[in-house]
Amino acid sequence: MSLLVFPSADELARHAAASFVRHAAAAIASHDRFAVVLSGGSTPRIVFRKLASDEFAPQVDWSNVHFFWGDERAVPPDHPDSNFRLAQEHLLAPLGIPDSNIHRIESERPPDEAAARYDADLTAFFGDGPRRFDLVHLGLGEDGHTASLFPDTVALGETQARVVANAVPRLQTTRITFTAPLINAARAVEFFVTGASKALVLREVLFGENHHYPSQMICPKDGTLTWLVTADAAAELPKQG
Ligand code: 6PG
Repeated sequence: MSLLVFPSADELARHAAASFVRHAAAAIASHDRFAVVLSGGSTPRIVFRKLASDEFAPQVDWSNVHFFWGDERAVPPDHPDSNFRLAQEHLLAPLGIPDSNIHRIESERPPDEAAARYDADLTAFFGDGPRRFDLVHLGLGEDGHTASLFPDTVALGETQARVVANAVPRLQTTRITFTAPLINAARAVEFFVTGASKALVLREVLFGENHHYPSQMICPKDGTLTWLVTADAAAELPKQG
């Protein structure tokens, strides 16, 4: 695991965009396509904008980039809370990404059906091969959740690398989410964490004694794990030697 601390969200986004460019080039060179999993929440917006900028957009062969989502809210794709909509507005539409490269969670359907169909989409995409994404972006909630793996929810007990509908009583909703085994099968996982509101949970997740935070389940089996955090989010971390 590596932990990178940035003075600003803009610097974090720049590093994340450069990392995306590197991972995309390596994946396309080795297996002709780059399968990337986008995160939800608000933090990814800065990274999407950086990737779609004149500085970074020309550096990627977008025709071979396939976009997936690690989780989605039970709302239609044009809803303000839709994770797809955030990416569509700030990354996919500005870059003119063709529908064939956009693997959206059909969150307008009942969650169980949406999860089953997305699981089938993964089978169609990966075939008999391992469900091994090239890069997974994740965020961190103030309760230590990531994707839609919330504390004390059923999906935490899943041992199969798949997509599930996960009831989240605290939010009175059911989310569609990747399980930890599916995320942990990836070649690379990156957490983006910004803001002082995340400082306490970040310290607990990375250095705390108790290990019941869902984001602590993320540990790629044969891949890299990188935490990209801003200085304000890192404010409570023990000072490095
Ligand atoms: C979601 C996300 C979720 C998110 C965290 C952090 O759909 O909400 O996948 O896991 O990454 O809640 O959200 P912020 O970036 O808004 O702080």
